[in-house]
Amino acid sequence: AAVEYGLDAPFEVEYHDSIGSTNDRGRELATAGETDVAVLADEQTGSRGRLDRDWRSPSGGIWLSLVCRPDIPPAHAPIYTLAAAVAATDALATVGVDAGIKWPNDVLVDGQKLVGILTEMEGEADRVSWIVVGIGINANVDGEEVPETATAIREQVGDVDRAALTRELLERFDELRTDPESVLPAWRAASVTLDRRVRVETPGGEVLGRAVDVEFPGTLVVETEAGKRRVSAGDCEHLRS
Ligand code: BTN
Repeated sequence: AAVEYGLDAPFEVEYHDSIGSTNDRGRELATAGETDVAVLADEQTGSRGRLDRDWRSPSGGIWLSLVCRPDIPPAHAPIYTLAAAVAATDALATVGVDAGIKWPNDVLVDGQKLVGILTEMEGEADRVSWIVVGIGINANVDGEEVPETATAIREQVGDVDRAALTRELLERFDELRTDPESVLPAWRAASVTLDRRVRVETPGGEVLGRAVDVEFPGTLVVETEAGKRRVSAGDCEHLRS
C-alpha cells in the first residue's frame, strides 16, 4: 500500500512501493551528488542488515535511508548513527512505544528489537563525502513477519500512521544533526545499555564488564576487571547483573 508522505519534512522524500534496498538507492543518489534525500519504501526485496546479516522488510514497515553530506571527518560518522537511534526512539515515544537504545544503535522494547540501523559512508582521510543512514522500523507488520528476537509496533500499540511517525523521526534527526552536542546527552537518556553488565564482541576480542558511559563519537566505556576499556565497534549483549 502506498503511503502519502508530506513534503514539509527537512528531507526531500523519494517513495517506492517496493525496492531492493533503500540503502542501495541512497548510495546511488549520494554518489550522484544528491543530499538531504529520504528514500522510503513500503517493502524491500533485498534489504541488508549490519555485519552482512539479513533484514526482513515486509510491506507495512518503515524502511528508509537518509542521504547526508555532512562536513565532518569520517571518524565522527558514528555520531550520525547514534542520532538516528535517538530520533527513532523519540519518534516512537510520540505513538506510545516506550523503546530504549542498546549500544550502539539497536532500538529495543523489552529486549526485543524494533528498529535496526545500518550506516554506510564514503570519504577521504579528513572529510566524509556522503553518509547513508538506513533505518528499519518494524511498524505495521505481524509478529510472525519479523525474527523471533524482534517485535513490531503493531504488537506493541497497534498500527500507526507511518507518514506522521516518519515525519517526527526526520524532524528530530534534523534537529540532532544540526546540534551534534545534544546527541550524547539524548542518547544516554534513551539508552538501556548504560549501567548494565555487557559482553561486547569487538574486532579485537571480547570485552566483559559494566557499561558506564558513552563518549564522542559513540565509544562505549566498559568498566572491566582490568580497568576501563573503550570500545568503538562491536556487537553488544546485555547480561544479567
Ligand atoms: C541491523 O540491525 O542489522 C540493521 C538493519 C537495517 C535495515 C534498514 S531498512 C532500510 C535500510 N535499507 C536496508 O537495506 N537496510 C536498512
